Amino acid sequence: MTLDDLMYRPGLMQGQRILVTGGGTGLGREMAEGLMMLGADVYICGRRGGVLEETAKALMDAHPASAGAGKVTPIACDIRVPEAIAEMMDTIWADGPLTGLINNAAGNFISRTEDLSTRGFDAIANIVFRGSFFVTLEAGKRWLKQGRKGAVVSILTTWVWSGGPFTVPSAMSKAGLNVMTQSLAAEWGNRGVRFNAIAPGPFPTEGAWARLSPGQPADGSNREVTGSPLGRMGEMRELANLAVYLLHPLSEYVNGQTIAIDGGGWNAGGGGFSSLRAWGDAEWEAARASIQGANAQDRARRTV
Ligand code: HXC
Ligand code: NAP
Repeated sequence: MTLDDLMYRPGLMQGQRILVTGGGTGLGREMAEGLMMLGADVYICGRRGGVLEETAKALMDAHPASAGAGKVTPIACDIRVPEAIAEMMDTIWADGPLTGLINNAAGNFISRTEDLSTRGFDAIANIVFRGSFFVTLEAGKRWLKQGRKGAVVSILTTWVWSGGPFTVPSAMSKAGLNVMTQSLAAEWGNRGVRFNAIAPGPFPTEGAWARLSPGQPADGSNREVTGSPLGRMGEMRELANLAVYLLHPLSEYVNGQTIAIDGGGWNAGGGGFSSLRAWGDAEWEAARASIQGANAQDRARRTV
């Protein structure tokens, strides 16, 4: 990304300090890049310490402080572990308070719901529903106690409105975060802590494609974009611009909103995996084997 990809003046986010969960890869990395390019200091967390280190270095090499960019600090943290979240927040606050948080970390895979084990359900709900709530709570408690303003943006999916066949634990968990956004916007808004959410349509990433379109290239080049009025997937810079807007203090009056960025896809009835109803046992077995291969590869790189 270059400054030409962003619709804001250089230095716009100077003085902002933002944690992006899952910021080592995919959408989180792209939003982290947009924020740091505009001068924000950004913290990125995830379970693969090496991936975080590589991302922090790559972003700071591409956008040095001399060009007005902020710092990127990697912190290995598993958001399924509340104590680890508290420790991460203590580490961050020791440098200074956050001004914003992006709840972006997630887990997901396509599966027939009747094939899910309790561990399969928990694998997703413990990251998305429970993990994101505890990250929010640890940041929120610190903001409220210190009388500071804070902006939270949660990355959801359009399935919070349409439902998500074959991705039910994800859709349920994201729907919970949608209600968290609405509820805490009302509960904490008068104390300066505001909540919004983004519901992206498809933006090709390795993490999502390995688990939602197994066997297809992660650039999304051969996935048909059915039902999208624009006939295409999202561009990372489009997402980064929206995240910057929602986190900037001048958008303070925007509170409790979930904004879709999907080219109008879900309004047009697209955006989900309903077409997988056509799959039989053989397709599901192949998908599961492919997804579990990707899971095992990623797990081997975890440092926490
Ligand atoms: C059925 C499956 C499965 C599959 C795993 N499981 N894959 N069940 N079908 N395809 C089951 C396992 O069998 C096991 O249950 C349980 O889930 C836990 O599996 P682990 O591999 O041990 O889990 P874990 O190491 O905790 O990994 C968590 C994970 C993994 C969620 C399964 O995918 C992960 O770490 N993901 C992080 C990255 C990610 O998912 N990114 C995509 C986000 S995209 P049993 O009972 O067998 O022990 C997204 C939205 C995209 O969210 C929207 C697009 C429009
Ligand atoms: P991704 O690259 O796989 O991103 C997920 C990130 O979450 C990874 O960096 C992963 O890092 C981190 N993570 C997972 N479990 C974690 C845990 N327990 N603790 C800390 N970090 C954890 O996939 P993505 O496509 O960019 O997805 C990012 C967000 O966008 C997700 O919320 C997803 O639901 C949402 N979204 C994506 C799309 C899309 O089309 N790509 C569409 C709609 C919504 P580690 O594995 O190292 O922990």
